[in-house]
Amino acid sequence: MTEPIEPGAPAVSLDHLARMFQQIAGETGPGADASELREIALGFRRLLMTYRFGLDEVMTKVTILREEFRHIHDYTPIEHVGSRMKSFESILAKAHRRGIPLRPDAVRDALTDIAGVRITCSFVTDIYRMRDLLIGQRDVTLLQEKDYIADPKPSGYKSLHLILSVPVFLSDRIEQVVVEVQLRTIAMDFWASLEHKIYYKY
Ligand code: GTP
Ligand code: MG
Repeated sequence: MTEPIEPGAPAVSLDHLARMFQQIAGETGPGADASELREIALGFRRLLMTYRFGLDEVMTKVTILREEFRHIHDYTPIEHVGSRMKSFESILAKAHRRGIPLRPDAVRDALTDIAGVRITCSFVTDIYRMRDLLIGQRDVTLLQEKDYIADPKPSGYKSLHLILSVPVFLSDRIEQVVVEVQLRTIAMDFWASLEHKIYYKY
């Protein structure tokens, strides 16, 4: 989640998808004919839609925990929640950078930050409380955890990163969707935003 968090799924037309796909794939690209390209673009569109649903599922869980907590304790451990979908451009660019085939299935298997949620908590103890409450839910699977609070990055970056998988119930199947959750305090968030700005500016 390098780009700032903002709501909204990437909404792109099929033509746009196909054009972008050709652009990014370039010479090393898929070498697909028009109908194949169309198929791939449609696959990506379905994939992004499913991620949007997964993101909504996790956001609902966070909102419920937040409001219930406020109701019971008259206190909220969460200061702010944001979510973002990685743009289709960024998804393709990252996949291309990593040498991943520009196909929906390959991208789904390789990238874990297509859907992202950022939770800003008041205190460090709240971060771990939220973590426990989230991963304790029956339909949430913890795929990976990186504790940059206990073990900050060399850059000084601190946050708790969870890679979660949640089921999305579609008309004919259940899809497991991967969502990256970043938990941090206001102070950690302030630092990370500043560091991110400095990194990209200089
Ligand atoms: P990405 O490929 O960038 O997603 O990194 P990764 O696969 O090594 O995963 P990691 O969990 O380390 O980082 C994921 C995200 O955390 C990044 O996209 C950033 O949003 C954030 N992040 C990680 N390290 C830093 C850092 O040093 N500074 C800032 N500002 N953000 C960071
Ligand atoms: Mg990332």
